[in-house]
Amino acid sequence: MLPISFARWAFSNGSKSGFQLTRHQFSTSTTIGAGFDKLGVIGLGLMGHGIAQTAAAAAAKSGIHSSIIAYESDPSFLERGRDRITKSVEKLVSKDKLSAADADALLHKITFTTDRNALNDTDLIVEAIIENMDLKKQLYSDLGKQCKSETIFASNTSSLSITEMALASGRPEKFVGVHFFNPVQIMKLVEVIRTDHTDMAVFDKTMKWVEQIGKVGVKCRDTPGFIVNRLLVPSLMQAMLLMERGDASINDVDLSMQLGAGHP
Ligand SMILES: NC(=O)c1ccc[n+]([C@@H]2O[C@H](COP(=O)([O-])OP(=O)(O)OC[C@H]3O[C@@H](n4cnc5c(N)ncnc54)[C@H](O)[C@@H]3O)[C@@H](O)[C@H]2O)c1
Repeated sequence: MLPISFARWAFSNGSKSGFQLTRHQFSTSTTIGAGFDKLGVIGLGLMGHGIAQTAAAAAAKSGIHSSIIAYESDPSFLERGRDRITKSVEKLVSKDKLSAADADALLHKITFTTDRNALNDTDLIVEAIIENMDLKKQLYSDLGKQCKSETIFASNTSSLSITEMALASGRPEKFVGVHFFNPVQIMKLVEVIRTDHTDMAVFDKTMKWVEQIGKVGVKCRDTPGFIVNRLLVPSLMQAMLLMERGDASINDVDLSMQLGAGHP
């Protein structure tokens, strides 16, 4: 946690370099219910298994999803994803953070499949496959043809252009970014990204869904690094340069950020 509002600080300083921020861009209020009865999650790796588990936990508790279709193209990766979720849930039970009955209800919400057609009638699909633009574009092109016209697509990409994927899907108005953080089960933030093509009703519904699964959504336009990595990566680079030049030690950089900037 930073000691002062970073955005407020940046706003007052940024105004000197001429960039403009509108109140709307920082507002996190939402008005329309999400209404995503059936959720799809594509890719059950580090991020995807956490997203499926988090949504399933919320669904078991509040009924926001009738089912979650968890898809991997390869059976062995599907089993690995299922195993990850099962082990994570078992750990919560062993630590008394989840009852056995709630764990059971959570796991029953998820249908694991290698059949991509099982995604056709989902209301929202969150994609978390590997960070490769060609693969993602091909996937979205296929999904755009096979899914019902109402299905909204959301990519968890950290660094790729949401706009490029949205155009490949053939339904850019129904395309957003949902950037979760690792580990998904624990980290509260989700950056919700809109492109110039995103329908604002779609965007608001996605923000609402993020809240419904227990996360805190922040809004950002499709810009490299979104918010967190746009700020974090340059500061990490500067830390490395300070050390490389021998200007400061690792320990003193760490201490400076902990005691001077309130970092953990
Ligand atoms: N790792 C992080 O800390 C992190 C944080 C935020 C966002 N992201 C983003 O999330 C996405 C996934 O990252 P990850 O770390 O979970 O990767 P990962 O390699 O752990 O998982 C990717 C999964 O996608 C599957 N996959 C690949 N191609 C597929 C296809 N065509 N259809 C279905 N499944 C497919 C793989 O089998 C694998 O299980 C990336 O876009 C990444 O940039 C990662």
